[in-house]
Amino acid sequence: GLPAAVTIYEVGPRDGLQNEQGIIPTATKAAFVRRLLAAGLPIVEATSFVHPRWVPQLADAADLMTALRAELGDAAAELPVLVPNERGLDRAVELGLRHVAVFASATDTFAERNLNRTVDSQFEMFAPTVDRALAQGMDVRGYVSMCFGDPWEGAVPIDQVVAVGTRLLDLGVGQLSLGDTIGVATAGHVRALVAAFAAAGIGPERLALHFHDTYGQALTNVHAGLQAGVTTYDASAGGLGGCPYAHSATGNLATEDLVWFLTGLGIEHGVDLTAVAATSRWMAAELGRPSPSAVVRALTPP
Ligand code: HMG
Ligand code: MG
Repeated sequence: GLPAAVTIYEVGPRDGLQNEQGIIPTATKAAFVRRLLAAGLPIVEATSFVHPRWVPQLADAADLMTALRAELGDAAAELPVLVPNERGLDRAVELGLRHVAVFASATDTFAERNLNRTVDSQFEMFAPTVDRALAQGMDVRGYVSMCFGDPWEGAVPIDQVVAVGTRLLDLGVGQLSLGDTIGVATAGHVRALVAAFAAAGIGPERLALHFHDTYGQALTNVHAGLQAGVTTYDASAGGLGGCPYAHSATGNLATEDLVWFLTGLGIEHGVDLTAVAATSRWMAAELGRPSPSAVVRALTPP
């Protein structure tokens, strides 16, 4: 049967906002995070401590976390942030944060474009970062990007993805989030990938699935993940998102679409759909364009 409960890992403030053209005020980002937490989302990834020239949209990461600390107190330290390297970790440690995520690529082309590294050399950057984070008692997530297809390299062999994921787990990351960065995954591919991890000794309890909805398959892919026993799903309020360094990446699976779907299956998630949708409508007004989420549109009064 399907799992009784699922954890929704909200990435809207990070994956969603990293790709916006305009500059979003720090106070608006803080309000976004606060509203998502208030809607019951158990985990809200807040921002990235990356090079500000690479992702100018998140250049205010330290200011945002300081603002959230003032508003939320210690709860702000529980919000995960991306850190690609030791410099990023230093910035997170200075602010007393407790949850970080490193992000690897399964392909050389994307490793080069997103991290200025190769698949092999990205691990030289992650190893000391993860070591030091763990030594400080922090919790570390490991993303793998381009797990299904890569815009430059095409289909990505499953063995290559399992090899990169295994190397991240060997560094000591707790959870592995398998990213369909450009949204080309299908249910059959999801089933095969999760099975390949299981065959390598990595069970579904170590995995999260991170879908972008380019081909409209994200929910179908979640269903395949549920059938394979995966219980953590990344999603972005209103379906915001995309990666500035991945050609053809569109929005993430919308949190509202996921919530509607899980509720229909009787799977517990703890999230207030009305409150998330209201948050996405507010954010859409801030960004000046409607949410791409079908569920947000359906819940919007005429
Ligand atoms: P690099 O140029 O190789 O960096 O970039 P470097 O290590 O050579 O350092 C160069 C300079 O940058 C130095 O300063 C460093 O101090 C500084 P200088 O000495 O020249 O004055 N620097 C930093 N400054 C602030 N924060 C830092 C930092 N690191 C170095 N953390 C680097 C390598 C990794 C830094 C760069 O490539 C980068 O920032 N990349 C980030 C790209 C990114 O954020 N992409 C989006 C997130 S991934 C994603 O969206 C996919 C995901 O959603 C899953 C999925 O969908 O698949 C997670
Ligand atoms: Mg993503």
